[in-house]
Amino acid sequence: MKNILITGASGMLGGTLSRSFLNEFNVFGTGNSVLKKVSFKYKDFDLSSSSYEELIKWSNPDIIILSGAITNGNYCNDNPSEAFRVNGLSVQKFLKATNKNVKIIYISTDAVFPSSLNLAKETDCVSPENVYGKSKELGEFFLNTSISRRYTIIRTTIVGLNINNRKLGFVEWIINTAKNNQELGLFSDVLFTPISIWDLATEIKFLINSGNINSETLHIAGELCTKYQFGKKLLQNLNISIDKLAKSSILSFSGRAKRCLDQSMDSSFYEQKYKRNLPNLNQTVNTIKKYYNE
Ligand SMILES: NC(=O)c1ccc[n+]([C@@H]2O[C@H](COP(=O)([O-])OP(=O)(O)OC[C@H]3O[C@@H](n4cnc5c(N)ncnc54)[C@H](OP(=O)(O)O)[C@@H]3O)[C@@H](O)[C@H]2O)c1
Repeated sequence: MKNILITGASGMLGGTLSRSFLNEFNVFGTGNSVLKKVSFKYKDFDLSSSSYEELIKWSNPDIIILSGAITNGNYCNDNPSEAFRVNGLSVQKFLKATNKNVKIIYISTDAVFPSSLNLAKETDCVSPENVYGKSKELGEFFLNTSISRRYTIIRTTIVGLNINNRKLGFVEWIINTAKNNQELGLFSDVLFTPISIWDLATEIKFLINSGNINSETLHIAGELCTKYQFGKKLLQNLNISIDKLAKSSILSFSGRAKRCLDQSMDSSFYEQKYKRNLPNLNQTVNTIKKYYNE
């Protein structure tokens, strides 16, 4: 069995990857907080640390999945040095701490692109509009300029549920607000292409098991929709009232890090190259429903 080190294992995607990879890999998860009672081997480790030796010695990885990041855009804007250290420089530290046989999968983001692009392709130029996007671009840069390293940069937009019930993501916020019968405004002028964390886990497993870590960038995302359309479909699917749901505009939203109006990505290169069918919006929402009901 291959050893796989997963950063961000206390977060939404990393937690799901760690659990769903357990049957096929020796999973070593790491995050910034102390976690108890997890089903995989876990060690807390701050990605700002100067030495990664202890982490690598502990996990002896064949593959590393870099899912750990500071994902709060406002926090990144207020703390740019920390954001660059954790989201970007950590990639260089992993490269330096491991030999060239260790493959790296870096989870990147739509936020490396500007608003002016619709359905951004792998060949489009990146031009992030906020610190978070810039810090992830830096992580990509270290892999793209690495020598003799097998890596995959996956740009994605994920939706899902947190294993850590102290954390609330986009999906949980929509569900909880609607269930509590509170006013819920969702942007009808922001486009994105969401994929569920479970479906993304399936694609990552496919890439690893088929030996396709080919030193490239791949867009792996879902169907184009607005945030409002996504939320409405999700709530209807879960039989939760949409009475308090309203369309809102990002333009009337102040006090937050600049976020693109168009966060959409085109995944057709990945689908065609690897003959994969990525889920549409209905399938994405159904997958969330399945795990929500569990
Ligand atoms: N969520 C999205 O909408 C989205 C969209 C596109 C791409 N992505 C990318 O997908 C990946 C996973 O996102 P997510 O939503 O699962 O994130 P998340 O739930 O916010 O989890 C982030 C993880 O990173 C860890 N982390 C943060 N600072 C750290 C530090 N200094 N040292 C070590 N670990 C640290 C967190 O640890 P603690 O919680 O223990 O502090 C947590 O495990 C990220 O790389 C993100 O950039 C996310």
